[in-house]
Amino acid sequence: MIKMNLSRDVKLCFAVIVYTGVLSACSEGQPPVKGFVLPEGNIENGQEVFASVGCRSCHTVAALDLPPLEQAPLFDIELGGKVRRVKTYGELLTSIVNPNHTVSPKYRITLDPKERKDAQSPMPVFNDVITVTQLIDLAAFLHSHYEMYSPEYQGYMYVP
Ligand code: HEC
Repeated sequence: MIKMNLSRDVKLCFAVIVYTGVLSACSEGQPPVKGFVLPEGNIENGQEVFASVGCRSCHTVAALDLPPLEQAPLFDIELGGKVRRVKTYGELLTSIVNPNHTVSPKYRITLDPKERKDAQSPMPVFNDVITVTQLIDLAAFLHSHYEMYSPEYQGYMYVP
């Protein structure tokens, strides 16, 4: 009998600890999940996606010879290379799924000075066009062409 009560008390105590832990985490304004980890992408497939969905009509990739385009490019924004705005894997994904989140200075500079501040990205949103697997492969492909990621980047883990 004593044994049973004890285990019930232990459980109750444990529940209180967990509950207060959750509450204090919330009160600090911390999101419950701090990062996410995507499966490793396939660089070769990513390069194919890059060509097939039309990223090529506005982008080149640093130090990479891509087959010539049939039509004149709409923009020439180079991706990859040593020093670029995109510095983390999270930023790279964000610029693909949410182009307006941060509009690249490289593009702003091409605009009339009055339009620069509120510039919207002319990049289409591909979220209903590509699959998540294609997105992961694209990110792996592009990431392999960036050389200066900040130290916070470790593998495929994004910690905001
Ligand atoms: C119609 C033209 C166009 C197409 C198509 C396009 N983009 Fe863009 N993209 C842009 C422009 C312009 C910018 C610069 C403005 C901005 O930051 O959104 C940009 C910015 C980016 C950036 C951020 C670059 C930086 O240094 O900040 C990434 C990454 C990117 N595009 C990836 C892609 C990928 C991947 C695809 C294909 C799925 C794609 N883009 C298709 C026009 C395009």
